[in-house]
Amino acid sequence: MDKELKQLKKRALEEFEKIKNNKELEELRVKYVGRNGELTKVLKQLKDLAVEEKPKIGKLANEVKVALAEKLDDLSSQLTKNARGSIVQATDLTLPGASVKTGSLHPNTIIQYELEDVFKSLGFQVLEGPDIESEYYNFEALNIPADHPARDMQDTFWLTSGEVLKTHTSAMQVRAMEKSGAPLKAIFPGRCFRYEATDASHDTTFYQLEGLMIDQDISIANLIAVMKELMKGVFGKEVKVRQRPGYFPFVEPGFELDINCLICGGKGCSVCKQTGWLELLPCGLVHPNVLKAGGLDPAKYSGFAFGLGLTRLVMMKYGIDDIRLLQSGDLRFLKQF
Ligand code: FA5
Repeated sequence: MDKELKQLKKRALEEFEKIKNNKELEELRVKYVGRNGELTKVLKQLKDLAVEEKPKIGKLANEVKVALAEKLDDLSSQLTKNARGSIVQATDLTLPGASVKTGSLHPNTIIQYELEDVFKSLGFQVLEGPDIESEYYNFEALNIPADHPARDMQDTFWLTSGEVLKTHTSAMQVRAMEKSGAPLKAIFPGRCFRYEATDASHDTTFYQLEGLMIDQDISIANLIAVMKELMKGVFGKEVKVRQRPGYFPFVEPGFELDINCLICGGKGCSVCKQTGWLELLPCGLVHPNVLKAGGLDPAKYSGFAFGLGLTRLVMMKYGIDDIRLLQSGDLRFLKQF
């Protein structure tokens, strides 16, 4: 048995030297030291040896067992090391990195940010208000008391709490006056909600961007100068606009600034309801009652306000012929921006 063990060790170690991968290593481990392996079989015969032979052969058998196990462990770590090396080799560090997929901004957000930049450069601060607004700030503080017919101008989502889903960003006017006092130069971008039938240019949820400037001696001339800057900032070119009288209880006098429809070039389409013009920017000088509600003295201060239809402006800028596309969540549409 002494000879048998020595030969087995020699044979096994020779075969181990030829191992090239983990599969072969596993096969030889099973072949020699597995449950029915060659060495295991020899070890099982130990019990049948004569008593005087047992210590010597037992010691040798154990040495062979340890030698084979150590060799197999060495080979296993060697194979792992080699595998790591080949991974490093397979990495070409000069290759350009894998691109990270990022989303993109919604067109409404893109234009909102552009406008915020224009206004910030003119010294305006950007303020935002809540979507759920009190009746006071949305109507009463804006010179629209409960029984005023102007409440019907905006179809309102009333909540059971008596609050409303903000129908217009003008709701921020008095909040801003209370917060900052005068002089005041601020814009309020925000989401508005109206309970009305949808069509190509009307949605139940849309964005406005309100502007408010209050100081001593503010006049229509200041309003027009800022409007011009706004249009230039958005379109980067001259666009045809027209101004007509408009009625809003919170301004006096009030105007409507319409933009020549850029979808049809003024010829008439479903967006401009065949008129060639799109209502975009109502504005006017802040009504004295609103200044009073904001804690300001109308004898000392005057101001202008405008309520830009931000979503409509986005339509004009990108040639979008149906407002409903903007909130559709349709990725084919959104991926274009
Ligand atoms: C107002 O909301 C006033 N708060 C604007 C204002 C502010 C006037 C400051 C004077 C001074 P109006 O309801 O017209 O006004 O809406 C303003 C703009 O929001 C419209 O010109 C239009 O561009 C846009 N708009 C109104 N309703 C919708 C709608 N359903 N879908 C998309 N855009 C709308």
